[in-house]
Amino acid sequence: MAPVPPLGTLRIAGPADVLRIGIVAAAGFRYSPLFRWERPHHQDFPDDTLLSYRTQFLNSVKSDDFVVLVQEDTYLPNENDKTSAIIPDNNGWTAPEAGGKVIVGVVSVKLQPSSAHKGKLKNHEGQQSLYLGVFPSPPAVGSYPDLPANPGRDLNRRHYDGWGTLAADARKKNNLDGDSIVSMLVVHPAYWKRGHGTRLATWPRDLSVLDKVPQCVSSATMSQPLFLSLGYRQVDSIAAEGDGDDPDGVCTALLEHGGTAQEA
Ligand SMILES: CC(C)(COP(=O)(O)OP(=O)(O)OC[C@H]1O[C@@H](n2cnc3c(N)ncnc32)[C@H](O)[C@@H]1OP(=O)(O)O)[C@@H](O)C(=O)NCCC(=O)NCCS
Repeated sequence: MAPVPPLGTLRIAGPADVLRIGIVAAAGFRYSPLFRWERPHHQDFPDDTLLSYRTQFLNSVKSDDFVVLVQEDTYLPNENDKTSAIIPDNNGWTAPEAGGKVIVGVVSVKLQPSSAHKGKLKNHEGQQSLYLGVFPSPPAVGSYPDLPANPGRDLNRRHYDGWGTLAADARKKNNLDGDSIVSMLVVHPAYWKRGHGTRLATWPRDLSVLDKVPQCVSSATMSQPLFLSLGYRQVDSIAAEGDGDDPDGVCTALLEHGGTAQEA
């Protein structure tokens, strides 16, 4: 197997993690400006928001093209008081006893097209043997959840689909199509500022260094200091103009590590 960085406290996400990861993503991404732009009806349809993140991560955990890593911490029973996202009750995830460990952060990485790791860094059965580093708590087991189709009533569909196109166009324009991509990075707000975000972002960066391939990320203001401190440099901006639905528009920085901007 091609070498990979040590996982340390991180582990590879498995099927049983998907329901919890969706909660972490909804709770954290609520603070990204993209959330306001893409999900203006979250208040009315929080179930659809949760299902959307669960579906996205289910697909990434299953896909050979992605590596999904999680970070755990001690469960805070009042965690949902620390986010303005609405996490519906009875959402299918069962909280642990006090003192138990839960996933509090997640990163998904889309491997570069030529990657030798495709399909390798997966944990479809939640098996202990597939863990690459020190893993202090029991491995995830179980099967992938059977998620229903999502009506997506929380979305501004035009903003949501349009943003995907804008981001892909920006990568193409800047010749980043051969890069690996930090697709999603999020930590539940109840567990911010404990170093989890930095740990989750460092492993993919180190993987791209080992692979000798540049890595890019579309970074909102909140995560820019984190990525810049890891050596990423801004190559462009990705911006959606304001419109009648949301006059403020939205903008992120397109950052890259190990690319031509680095060498300049
Ligand atoms: C961006 C994000 C992932 C950071 O997660 P995090 O776990 O808080 O990250 P870290 O703890 O590693 O670092 C964040 C800050 O806490 C500080 N910090 C880290 N450990 C700390 C500790 N033990 N005590 C106090 N502060 C600490 C870091 O120095 C850093 O400070 P800075 O913001 O001044 O640079 C998180 O805020 C998030 O999920 N935001 C919403 C979603 C989002 O924007 N994702 C990025 C999309 S690209």
